[in-house]
Amino acid sequence: MPKIVVLGAGAMGSALCTPLVAAGWETRLWGTWLDDHLLDACEQGLPHPRTNVPLAKGTLLYRSGQLEEALDGVDAVFLSVASQGVPKVTELALQGISQAKVLLVTSKGFCPDDQGRIELLPQAIRRIAAEHNATLPPIVGVAGPCKANEVAEGKPTATIYGSLDRSVAEDMARRISTDVYCIEPTGDEVGVEVCAPMKNVYAISLGVADGLEEATGFPHHNLKAATFAQAVREMSLLSTVLGADPVTAFGLAGVGDLEVTGLSGRNKVYGLRIGRGEPAVDALDAMVAAEQTVEGVPAAGLAKTLVEQLGDGLPAKLPLLQAVLRVISGEQPPLDIISAAVMPPKLA
Ligand SMILES: NC(=O)c1ccc[n+]([C@@H]2O[C@H](COP(=O)([O-])OP(=O)(O)OC[C@H]3O[C@@H](n4cnc5c(N)ncnc54)[C@H](O)[C@@H]3O)[C@@H](O)[C@H]2O)c1
Repeated sequence: MPKIVVLGAGAMGSALCTPLVAAGWETRLWGTWLDDHLLDACEQGLPHPRTNVPLAKGTLLYRSGQLEEALDGVDAVFLSVASQGVPKVTELALQGISQAKVLLVTSKGFCPDDQGRIELLPQAIRRIAAEHNATLPPIVGVAGPCKANEVAEGKPTATIYGSLDRSVAEDMARRISTDVYCIEPTGDEVGVEVCAPMKNVYAISLGVADGLEEATGFPHHNLKAATFAQAVREMSLLSTVLGADPVTAFGLAGVGDLEVTGLSGRNKVYGLRIGRGEPAVDALDAMVAAEQTVEGVPAAGLAKTLVEQLGDGLPAKLPLLQAVLRVISGEQPPLDIISAAVMPPKLA
């Protein structure tokens, strides 16, 4: 039986155990030092507190102090911590990762290096490995429209696995796909890794439209649809500048993931709170207090730095990114700011 360890016992890490167990892997779930309460619930047979779904039967649990044991002899490692935890967990797990045949990454975000240059997560992981003279196995970026609770429940889910070597993504697709967890392989690692954090940024602006509806009692679906279209254009532009296939943003990694995140994700909920009138800072505080990580906020700041570093007039070509940055900094009113970014300009 092939062995896999999922690093991070949050919503997504625990949910992934469902398809992994179903696909015949010996599945180990390692919780970070922040996850003890989550593992406590799972050990008591209660639903996982973040997904409300019991952990897949047969999943082996490991506490933060048992990392070496969790990694021992595994064929594959699945990194599933929030993006800000990726450097530390990568460093801690490096020896075990380097002995595995593949590293899969479901974390979504950007990572600054020591000089402040912004890297995609796989680039950051490769740099960290090089700094420690460790050899890494091939990396597979995992993205697409996957709500953790639905994955955990075994509901139909389409996901995209991207690796610089497409055959590695194909191999993992063959070995992890089930009847309901269906994997599209691609060689476009960059496209997958750019869309993943950027859809979190843009989902904030989709949430604003929903919040405006709550505040006014009147739908803002036209604004939301225009925002959606602009978000996809910007994901495609940014990923293409970084070397991706422009089509990736129009598939599962971009359009698909933006749709699901705009329906119900944490980033959308944060935007909704702002749209219905809460100051941005209060909205974020409330989300943090409810253990709801809003990854789109740090991703927006890092994306700003990234596009400035890329230069060539790129910041001006991403007006919705600029609008989201203004909205999360507390500028008012969000309706005018988002509208100005997504509405076609009046022709002279
Ligand atoms: N929830 C989803 O539907 C979903 C879907 C696809 C991808 N993802 C991505 O998977 C990753 C994990 O998401 P989640 O939904 O499980 O989040 P979560 O908040 O439920 O869990 C976060 C995980 O990251 C760890 N973590 C948080 N901060 C850390 C830090 N500073 N240092 C080390 N570890 C830290 C936590 O211990 C936990 O294991 C995110 O990058 C997210 O974007 C989530």
